[in-house]
Amino acid sequence: MDKKIALLQDKIKQANLGGGQARIDSQHKKGKLTARERIHFLLDEGSFEEIGMMVTHRSTDFGMEAEKYLGDGVVTGYGTINGRLIYVFSQDFTVFGGSLSETHAEKICKLMDMAMKNGAPLIGLNDSGGARIQEGVVSLGGYADIFYKNVQASGVIPQLSAIMGPCAGGAVYSPAITDFILMVENTSYMFVTGPNVVKTVTHEEVTSEELGGASTHATKSGVTHFACANEIDAINHVKKLLSYMPQNCEEIASHLPYQSADETRPELNNFMPENASQPYDMREVISTVVDPDSFLEVHAAYAENIVVGFARLAGRSIGIVANQPAYLAGVLDSNSSNKAARFVRFCDCFNIPLLVFEDVPGFLPGTDQEWNGIINNGAKLLYAFSEATVPRITVITRKAYGGAYDVMNSKHIGADMNYAWPSAEIAVMGAKGAAEIIFKREITASENPEEKWLEKEKLYSDIFANPYRAAERGFIDEVIEPAQTRAKLIKAFKMLENKVVNNPRKKHGNIPL
Ligand code: COA
Repeated sequence: MDKKIALLQDKIKQANLGGGQARIDSQHKKGKLTARERIHFLLDEGSFEEIGMMVTHRSTDFGMEAEKYLGDGVVTGYGTINGRLIYVFSQDFTVFGGSLSETHAEKICKLMDMAMKNGAPLIGLNDSGGARIQEGVVSLGGYADIFYKNVQASGVIPQLSAIMGPCAGGAVYSPAITDFILMVENTSYMFVTGPNVVKTVTHEEVTSEELGGASTHATKSGVTHFACANEIDAINHVKKLLSYMPQNCEEIASHLPYQSADETRPELNNFMPENASQPYDMREVISTVVDPDSFLEVHAAYAENIVVGFARLAGRSIGIVANQPAYLAGVLDSNSSNKAARFVRFCDCFNIPLLVFEDVPGFLPGTDQEWNGIINNGAKLLYAFSEATVPRITVITRKAYGGAYDVMNSKHIGADMNYAWPSAEIAVMGAKGAAEIIFKREITASENPEEKWLEKEKLYSDIFANPYRAAERGFIDEVIEPAQTRAKLIKAFKMLENKVVNNPRKKHGNIPL
């Protein structure tokens, strides 16, 4: 027996070494952790249980039968994060560059099946040279098997992808289907075709970092939700993100213990600038209203005219969508609509109540927006809110103009409670533009058109630049003092905690993608 145990121990040692010490050293030299080190930092100490450590590839072409590594380039298993069950796969770049073989794919698929059956989040730590070139189409089949399971798991369990190295070609589509992507600055990149192919086809000269690095995807494409300073930062972000989520779609996120206190926030009564065109940072409103230090902004550097993120309110996990007057006056455009729509759908999948702060002057005009489909893109956000069955509350802080008023979680599309601050202006458009259109003839015929215009602007403003017309109709449930916002929201979300809404039975809806 001793010999047999020694053999086992020898195999475990081999597996732990992946592609060997030289390749581990090379990984470290690039400023990267190994697959196992990443798992070590991610999971609770000693909680990791590995599955499939002895798996090897089956390839026999190109002399591959002579080059086998236990585990075959991916470490898979389960463990806990803050005591919660989590499944994790971590690609091992030291084994064939973390490339995906048939068996590597099988290990990931097996893990995904287990995560779905047992209702726990799946975290992928990606670091791979793509399809195992020696295996050809078998490897491509492996990718497709993973994509298919990613789609099956979507909305069932949270799926998070942390990109810790290369992720190119077909490999990008598994993370793309998952709920959140995190990338590491300078050591990770994602692209469908790399710089060499780009140069051949479009004659553009671009580096990997420019083409698909963390900053690029965090600001230009929105592919990544977080650009993290280093791998540990990425791992910490994964843990934080998970803390707002339940284990699966049948559960709700755990409430943190909360000691009720004075919930008034007097500073908000003096927060709003006197001039309605003056910008302010909506993140200040958010952080004053939610539990201290609980706001985690998602997609912070992309489509900054809308702010989305998770927070806690009296210990309860919530998702926040807020117009940002400090950027493009908080206007809705294609990118911000897409960003917010995806976030709303995530929250709805996983029973996370939604809180909307609204200050929106409308949709961004222009050929760029129209030709790039603002109609479809804006409709996504409208659709996402309309189909969401989680508790939904809106607070209108200032402007709620035009179609954007309807879209931003209005009462009409199913919001549960709609509050407005006294500074709210709920109208078809700003008073100046409105006066110009409806009093055009009067203004033109006047001896002093400028003065007439101002007079009519004031008239329109007196009637509509307030929340009371909407409140008279019941479109606003209550006009509140800003200082009372937090207290009102805590009570309202508690009141809504057993909300049940069943959308009409259907196979699935047809969101305008
Ligand atoms: N299939 C099989 N082996 C691969 C691989 C792949 N797709 N990608 C990398 N490897 C192997 C390399 O042969 C090398 O093996 P070695 O340790 O025995 O020398 C090892 O992984 C590390 O690769 P290397 O090229 O030295 O690393 P790098 O950091 O300089 O470059 C990449 C990383 C990903 C840019 C580069 O390996 C690459 O371009 N790989 C191919 C990408 C691709 O076209 N994939 C298929 C389409 S999805």
